[in-house]
Amino acid sequence: QLVLDLLDANTTIPDTRTLTIPGQSEPATSQDAQITVLGALNSLLSREMVSFETHETLAHALSAEGNQIAIEGSHEARVWAALPVKGQGAPVTVAQLKTLVGDETASIGQGRAFKNKWIGKDGDGFVQIAPTIQDATKLDLLEVQSTGTLKSGEKVLADLRKRKLIVQRKGQWFTVSKGPNFSTSTAKPETDLTVEMLTSGAWKTSTFKKYNFEAEGAPTTGGSLHPLLKVREEIRNIFLEMGFAEMPTASFVESGFWCFDALFVPQQHPAREVQDTFYLSDPAKSLDPEPKYYKTVSTIHEHGGFGSTGYRAPWSHDETTKLLLRTHTTASSAHMLYKLAARCRGEDVEDDDRPAAGKKPQNSDGKDDGFRPAKLFSIDRVFRNETTDATHLAEFHQVEGVVADRNLTLADLIGFMKVFFSKMGIQQVRFKPAYNPYTEPSLEIFAFHPLLNRWVEVGNSGMFRPEMLEPMGFPKDVRVHGWGLGLERPTMIRYGINNIRTLLGHKTSIDYIEGSPAPML
Ligand code: PHE
Repeated sequence: QLVLDLLDANTTIPDTRTLTIPGQSEPATSQDAQITVLGALNSLLSREMVSFETHETLAHALSAEGNQIAIEGSHEARVWAALPVKGQGAPVTVAQLKTLVGDETASIGQGRAFKNKWIGKDGDGFVQIAPTIQDATKLDLLEVQSTGTLKSGEKVLADLRKRKLIVQRKGQWFTVSKGPNFSTSTAKPETDLTVEMLTSGAWKTSTFKKYNFEAEGAPTTGGSLHPLLKVREEIRNIFLEMGFAEMPTASFVESGFWCFDALFVPQQHPAREVQDTFYLSDPAKSLDPEPKYYKTVSTIHEHGGFGSTGYRAPWSHDETTKLLLRTHTTASSAHMLYKLAARCRGEDVEDDDRPAAGKKPQNSDGKDDGFRPAKLFSIDRVFRNETTDATHLAEFHQVEGVVADRNLTLADLIGFMKVFFSKMGIQQVRFKPAYNPYTEPSLEIFAFHPLLNRWVEVGNSGMFRPEMLEPMGFPKDVRVHGWGLGLERPTMIRYGINNIRTLLGHKTSIDYIEGSPAPML
């Protein structure tokens, strides 16, 4: 309003530093005041009520030390003020002066006060010799503080700069003239064209706010993928390009039968204990497995069969029907392998997996025994009753692949691993003999980690035992190899995370998830 009134009276405002902002006693010479002026000018400009030109200046502002002097006086003035008038008190020694005004002020101020002939020596100490002083530095700084410059000129300014009491700052001031929509009324222009304006005809005389094409749009909101999902997608693509089909893994709850017994895990195995496995209390029991298969599985455990001696340990039906949270996705693989062997068991299933033309499915005797090769994978959640820490949670994701074909060997498994891991960006892999109840031989997979500069365990693999495959009905020449790895570890390495809780659990920040980049393989 001040700008508009002045323009109305004088047509132009040649220098906005002459304005006195309402509520302030001094003209708006400081940079802060000019920033306030600029805000008003921009708002008036957007309504084309004014136009203005910007002028750049170099103004001065006080440094932190300059500010302190403007308040408390210069070091020399502080020294002078701390001393007694000559003859009216004991002279102050250097040591006393230091405790009175501080080390820094004492050492800087004493010399200058001496040079100015404000103080003098009296015996071992100092006294005032000037009855009054003019603290020019303080006065100069106060002038710079309020006007951004000094009337006395550049020489003194340069001296204050050298003493680091003031700093140069770019400043602006403005010349203002009337714009095409000049008026002294600051009534806000309309921002919307309303139905009322159209019906009343008010739109003809209304002024409208100009559309601001520079304004930032509202941030878009929407879902974003969790890092685990992104890495899962990459791994899924590796499987798919290698010709694998994805297994259904929706059932987190399995029975002891499918999680362990079908895999020839002995019923006395420590992994089956409550410390390692979460059991369900309601419902606690699964339905009974298919009787014929169940009988074969229980027999091979208890008494052996198919050339195996079995475990020769007591069999408990109760163990097979216990419901639990699956401890590995190999439980899902077992379901799928059992299904894959259905045709071999002579069950009537649709042949949806016909082999390529000219290649009849047959075994070495030239007969179709119903077997069809398969490459299957899954990536899903598993649960283990473990103590949680920075790198372990009670639930995590497993990546699992199984390959079923006639006469596969350990070399096939190793060759497969090498291709699979190289597609994951891991070129150097090593294998170490290991033990799994359901695979023989079993191999732990190690990869060389260039950042950690050591070999780290990345997975577990093996050839499924005949004690698992033959009760399902697979012909003797069918071999199945499989491997499993965690999803969390490669994800944490990829995203440089060292605490699993950054990724999963109630402490995970949504902002972190939203802001996490799509990974590069
Ligand atoms: N189930 C194994 C694990 O939990 C992984 C694995 C899968 C091993 C298939 C061999 C074959 O570590």
